[in-house]
Amino acid sequence: MARTPAPPVALPDLRGRTALITGASDGVGVEIARGLAAAGADLVLPVRRREKGERAVAGLRSTAPQTRIELRDLDLARLDSVAALAAALTAERAPLDIVVLNAGIVLLGDGERHTSVDGFELHFQTNFLGHFAFATALLPLLRDRRTRVVIQLSLAAGVARLAWDDLQSERRYAPLRAYGASKVALGLFGYELARRSAASDGRLTVHLSHPGIAPGTAIAPAMRERRRGGAGEALAERWGNTPAEAAQPALLAAVTDAAPPGFFGPLGPLHLGGAAGPLKAYRRVTDPAAGARVWDVAERLLAGRVRAR
Ligand SMILES: NC(=O)c1ccc[n+]([C@@H]2O[C@H](COP(=O)([O-])OP(=O)(O)OC[C@H]3O[C@@H](n4cnc5c(N)ncnc54)[C@H](OP(=O)(O)O)[C@@H]3O)[C@@H](O)[C@H]2O)c1
Repeated sequence: MARTPAPPVALPDLRGRTALITGASDGVGVEIARGLAAAGADLVLPVRRREKGERAVAGLRSTAPQTRIELRDLDLARLDSVAALAAALTAERAPLDIVVLNAGIVLLGDGERHTSVDGFELHFQTNFLGHFAFATALLPLLRDRRTRVVIQLSLAAGVARLAWDDLQSERRYAPLRAYGASKVALGLFGYELARRSAASDGRLTVHLSHPGIAPGTAIAPAMRERRRGGAGEALAERWGNTPAEAAQPALLAAVTDAAPPGFFGPLGPLHLGGAAGPLKAYRRVTDPAAGARVWDVAERLLAGRVRAR
């Protein structure tokens, strides 16, 4: 039986607004960018590979020719790159109305533990610490602009554990475990950011989302190769989202009037796919003590290495 496509979120008129999306050179991120552009937003797209970014921009222009799109450089796995972009955006007083922290990696199918040039486990830095460093360095700018921040989690954040005594997976490494832990850390950061904003001036709005499963993106080709024909693949193909459908929860988070912090994802079977809607937050990412702890740990790990000004 043919699968019914999930309906797109109705977006308000976003003309005159600017949205920054990380990880928009591919997959779900490019579809988040396409959705925001279709509603009239200007785009700032930080990418780690210019050529790939330019290809994504060419694709976006085919559906939204009028959109102003600015490519910037950002490698979340390099703190010098994170610091440089945060400093440049701050110096320019970039008018960022929406910031979607969407970029992510999962190195499934590769049993070897990898570290960034900064020495951190690669999932931990790319998915969590790099985004933490970027967003916190930009905080004064984002507060001034009353920016909406959207944080892209994963179903994995609902089941994974963060090993506080082994955050860098030095003692025990498995790619899915490291990925899940990085998304738990990112979720804890998101809810803590929301709490800190509410407790201070409330100028920042924070919502969280997850895309379900989008088997058609570039995120885990090695895993797909290994599991080809298996039950997991059948489930993802049957109930998962296309990249455009998987973009809808983040788009909903970017425009919702719901009280922050909301959590949005697909409402279909097992939340793998389907129409975007509000979800109950994962308990493991809403604990205030753990949120404060992850913030402190990240600050200590960064120890003044990333400052926008
Ligand atoms: N697809 C799924 O089934 C699924 C399920 C749950 C959650 N998610 C989450 O959804 C988000 C998007 O995933 P996707 O499926 O769209 O993956 P994707 O197609 O692989 O796209 C990931 C994006 O992140 C960028 N990125 C990776 N490492 C980066 C770095 N060091 N610095 C800056 N950008 C970097 C990639 O850039 P390059 O183009 O240079 O590689 C790409 O633009 C991720 O956060 C992922 O965890 C996806």
